[in-house]
Amino acid sequence: MGNKGLQVAIDGPASAGKSTVAKKIAKRFQYIYCDTGAMYRTVTLKAMQQGVALDDPAALADMLKHTEITFKPGDPEQLVFLDGTDVTAAIRQEDVTNNVSTTAAQGTVRTDLTNRQREIADAGGIVMDGRDIGTTVLPDAQVKIFLVASVEERAQRRFKDNAEKGIHTPIDVLREEIEIRDHKDSTRKISPLTQAADAVKLDTTSLSIDDVVDKISAIIEQNVEKS
Ligand code: DC
Repeated sequence: MGNKGLQVAIDGPASAGKSTVAKKIAKRFQYIYCDTGAMYRTVTLKAMQQGVALDDPAALADMLKHTEITFKPGDPEQLVFLDGTDVTAAIRQEDVTNNVSTTAAQGTVRTDLTNRQREIADAGGIVMDGRDIGTTVLPDAQVKIFLVASVEERAQRRFKDNAEKGIHTPIDVLREEIEIRDHKDSTRKISPLTQAADAVKLDTTSLSIDDVVDKISAIIEQNVEKS
């Protein structure tokens, strides 16, 4: 990888803080940031808009042949485009969030998006977050982090994020949604959410975002010295 920069894989369950941390790390090291969850969400949104069944692998594969997903820098968040339309806000809607695990369990979707993610990572100097980055997408990544936090803490974080967006789903509903999504993501047959054998596990329950960023940055720096 040398002067191109390292590949940094950050995996973990829903709302463990992956994207917040990954964006800050990317900024600090001037690496590209790739939010793979946004890609699964975008495919889910398009299928819902077009009436394609989320559990029909062949129909989803057909749809993906004519689907363009692109990222553009934005402030405060990276912008996501589906076939040229900005879907940054639409892919965070509750109905997409609650359906995305079904789409993400389809082999055709995973193969297609994994190929796209590897192409993005080819440039090197990348921070990629998701569920299967360290295990499947970038098994040779020099830095692999597995972020976890208690369900209670993750429900609280989602509650706070939602409140900022004017969404007021009760905390016990959020807790249940997180548990259902964790279960689906970690029990699916293909590339389930699981910690890579060589990943460093970090429990963020009682850590600040800056603490987590500092810990991961130290691991990256050690690996930069080695490379
Ligand atoms: O990180 P997120 O909540 O935006 O991810 C949305 C969903 O996409 C998540 O429930 C599981 C799926 N996903 C996946 O299966 N593999 C990835 N690499 C990233 C996300």
